[in-house]
Amino acid sequence: MSIRVDIKSNDPRWLKILCYPKPKEEEASRRKEELASLGIKLVEFIGRSSINGVNVLGKGCVSVAVLAYGDQARYALKIRRVDANRESMEHEAALLRFANKLGVGPRLIGFSKNFLVMEYVDGLPIDEWLLKKQPATIELKRLLLNLLTQCRKMDKAGLSHGELSTAKRHVIVAKDGTPYIIDFETSSLTRKASNVTAICSYLLTRSQASSKVTSTLNIQKTEVFNALRAYKHSITDEAFNRLLGALNLISEAENLL
Ligand SMILES: Nc1ncnc2c1ncn2[C@@H]1O[C@H](COP(=O)(O)OP(=O)(O)OP(=O)(O)O)[C@@H](O)[C@H]1O
Ligand SMILES: [Mg+2]
Repeated sequence: MSIRVDIKSNDPRWLKILCYPKPKEEEASRRKEELASLGIKLVEFIGRSSINGVNVLGKGCVSVAVLAYGDQARYALKIRRVDANRESMEHEAALLRFANKLGVGPRLIGFSKNFLVMEYVDGLPIDEWLLKKQPATIELKRLLLNLLTQCRKMDKAGLSHGELSTAKRHVIVAKDGTPYIIDFETSSLTRKASNVTAICSYLLTRSQASSKVTSTLNIQKTEVFNALRAYKHSITDEAFNRLLGALNLISEAENLL
């Protein structure tokens, strides 16, 4: 059974997460106030990563992610590490907000210097979904078309996610089959955006589920890679549609969306 802790608590496990990696009393009480003002009441020790044996959703260079509760709903909460090389969570919040305007990413709920609160996506990392869930061909196609369309919107708007070449950590598939791109910490509006290319090359070559994806889609790899190269060269709607065609997604687009 997972453990829930009040954010005001002095439980040492919570203090360690709140001020990771080194708890300090003053910083902890400042952070508790800050978190309360965002409407967060409880956190839950659950997730695939762990900090001194305590489960959390994730631990990166800038922040620790935990499951959190407000009055109404549960959220994913990112807590800035005290040793982070970022002054605040503002950068990530701004890029997530930008993504949200394109219909991409978990909904941003709020943020402050040390915290980012967003919609919690209950689901599976994409590789696990592909491998364990045994999706039907139509479900797989629907997922890919949705994901590529999100990436295309980001490419068009000039938002580079930055880490989609390791998509297994950055795409969660919700229970209803909708893919969510997460973690805009390393995203940029100035770097060249190549999200479509990054996600395709991950799913078609590097993912553990690559062979399953290519066989389910029944694609000609050369045709797909030519289309990808053409898209990389000029990121037009035409090149994107050619890619969807090569992936055997376009003829079904009307039925899939
Ligand atoms: N909105 C969310 N819903 C559900 N789970 C999430 C959400 N955001 C993050 N997670 C989980 O937390 C993990 C870590 O989150 P994320 O990838 O955003 O941060 P990170 O890479 O650990 O930190 P950093 O910001 O320092 O890069 C994810 O792999 C995912 O499992
Ligand atoms: Mg990260």
